[in-house]
Amino acid sequence: MKRILLSLLALSAAGVISAQVNEMKVDLGRTVAGIQPTMYGIFIEDINFAADGGLYAELVKNRSFEFPNNRLQGWNVGGRLEVMDDGPFDRNPHYVRLMYPGHPHKHTAMVNDGFFGIGLKKDGQYRFSVWARVPEGNASLGVELINKASMAESQVYTSARITVDSGEWKQYEVILTSPVTDPKASLRIFLDSASAVDVEHISLFPVDTWMGHRNGLRKDLAQALYDLQPGLFRFPGGCIVEGTDLQTRYSWKNSVGPVENRPLNENRWQHTFRHRYYPDYFQSYGLGFYEYFLLSEEIGAEPLPVISCGLACQFQNETMDAHQPVADLDCYIQDALDLIEFANGDVSTRWGGLRAEMGHPAPFNLKYIGIGNEQWGPEYPERLEPFVSAIRKAYPEILIVGSSGPCSEGDQFDFLWPEMKRIGVDLVDEHFYRPESWFLSQGARYDNYDRKGPKVFAGEYACHGEGKKWNHFGASLLEAAFMTTIERNADVVWMATYAPLFAHIEGWQWRPDLIWFDNLRSFRSCSWYVQKLYSRYKGTDVLKLTDKEGKNITGAEGQNGLFASSVYDSANDCIYVKVINVSDEARPIKISFEGLGRRHLLKGVEAVSYHSDDLDADNTLDQPERIVPESAPLDFEGKVLETTVAPKTFMVYVIQK
Ligand code: AHR
Repeated sequence: MKRILLSLLALSAAGVISAQVNEMKVDLGRTVAGIQPTMYGIFIEDINFAADGGLYAELVKNRSFEFPNNRLQGWNVGGRLEVMDDGPFDRNPHYVRLMYPGHPHKHTAMVNDGFFGIGLKKDGQYRFSVWARVPEGNASLGVELINKASMAESQVYTSARITVDSGEWKQYEVILTSPVTDPKASLRIFLDSASAVDVEHISLFPVDTWMGHRNGLRKDLAQALYDLQPGLFRFPGGCIVEGTDLQTRYSWKNSVGPVENRPLNENRWQHTFRHRYYPDYFQSYGLGFYEYFLLSEEIGAEPLPVISCGLACQFQNETMDAHQPVADLDCYIQDALDLIEFANGDVSTRWGGLRAEMGHPAPFNLKYIGIGNEQWGPEYPERLEPFVSAIRKAYPEILIVGSSGPCSEGDQFDFLWPEMKRIGVDLVDEHFYRPESWFLSQGARYDNYDRKGPKVFAGEYACHGEGKKWNHFGASLLEAAFMTTIERNADVVWMATYAPLFAHIEGWQWRPDLIWFDNLRSFRSCSWYVQKLYSRYKGTDVLKLTDKEGKNITGAEGQNGLFASSVYDSANDCIYVKVINVSDEARPIKISFEGLGRRHLLKGVEAVSYHSDDLDADNTLDQPERIVPESAPLDFEGKVLETTVAPKTFMVYVIQK
């Protein structure tokens, strides 16, 4: 706040600094384009343990004993037990038979350490549940939350007993209250009877999930999404849509229905990078398409599901036999049609009926679908075309998103854009994980885009600092600068989503990321705050903002490292001007608001500043609010705002019209 006041004070010496003033004009006489409500969104992919081990609040790893290399992976077991494969859930057939160990002083037990430990909060309630049966009689299970590293007499934090009283499979549950906070606790289960017990789908959830849902989501992480006010929500990938091979592509039909019977999928990020190898990374599909549509609704974002086009990851498969032949695409196309039916169909339809059964008879009002992720070559358009024809025929109202490949420019990009126009998709997904120099050079990226073709979805982007491929303020400042071209060109850019969204500090494969977390804590990166400032001050209509020569302010030569854009918010009758100064110098600016009646005076409301003296710093788990935007009153009345933008700073000026 001090810095803003100082810079406003400096204006009293306007005469002194006028020589260096950067003049800007905002035309309030007319708006240039409407801004789509979908403009600033989020994209979640289960990379970096974003879903299983992250947003999905399940605390038990390998709860259904389906990890393929070792059915007991994630479990430490003792005594006498056996893995069986004729369980009650046909798509997850394995379960464990716990048996009397043969001596009253021996124990049959199993311990699960969750994902990098089980996070417990003091006084937090945890719902333990298990599907079980006894071959005969009654059996008893001792359930404990423990600290294996404890130096106390007992490792046990809290415990409960479950009596299994039926030969039929039944779900049993008990609520455990943790007396402590421990990010790395474990779950231990003892067989406490002479009779054997069969156990399946062993689950532990905090009771306090996002919106209190069972099979729910971690509250702080979902809250961080809600707080972003996203207009769009893309899911489930990313490369995960494609799979390392077609067998492991994301298959949405496996992600709906009773959670116990959703088959496990290998997570492709398990082995994508040898230098960050996670052999125990699988997708339980517990956070599946139902949970995704529901969360989209709850956070007010339009869902944008992406579906496989029949191409396995093209980075990982060079021969055509890895892919589904064009002639055999029917079941892939049917998957897309059925997904739309699941989201929007009447409850009397097969998939609409399943949605209703799962708890949401009302349609989710799906409006968009993406076909393919980062695809390239002629093999993509030839697969995309039949999808487009089938979707247009069955659901003409759905807008279709195609891909421009994995690069922000180049041969594939140049080949695919015309192809997308020819096929007539509604939006084209562009991806750019690029260094500082690229972001600095792209301030005018969309200024000359074709206004007649498909709209743009900037579907994956982040500034990957050269030699600094991790989160830091400097990178987020360049993202803010780049986003002025998105905002300025809202007639052609309809959606934009930073990527990736989440990362577990002990389980990441890719960085930078928007939100970081451990088992109990999370923090919002500087990039999160940049996204937040854009969505908070999104506005409804673009205003023309130029320099005194009528040029857009895009960080071009002679513009002194300034990027700027401006919007009008019809709901609040406000003007938001965003100015980013990426230079090392303070920049005096003078913004003239034109197109107003003679007596019409504007009034300053607020100046929001985002800055860090240390460009290499970011927020951290220990200091989650180390670098956050600061707001100060904007002392201004009139038609010309004169102020100074500090070096390396993102400013939002809020002005009442
Ligand atoms: O966001 C991480 C990955 O980057 C996505 O899965 C993929 O689409 C891109 O290559």
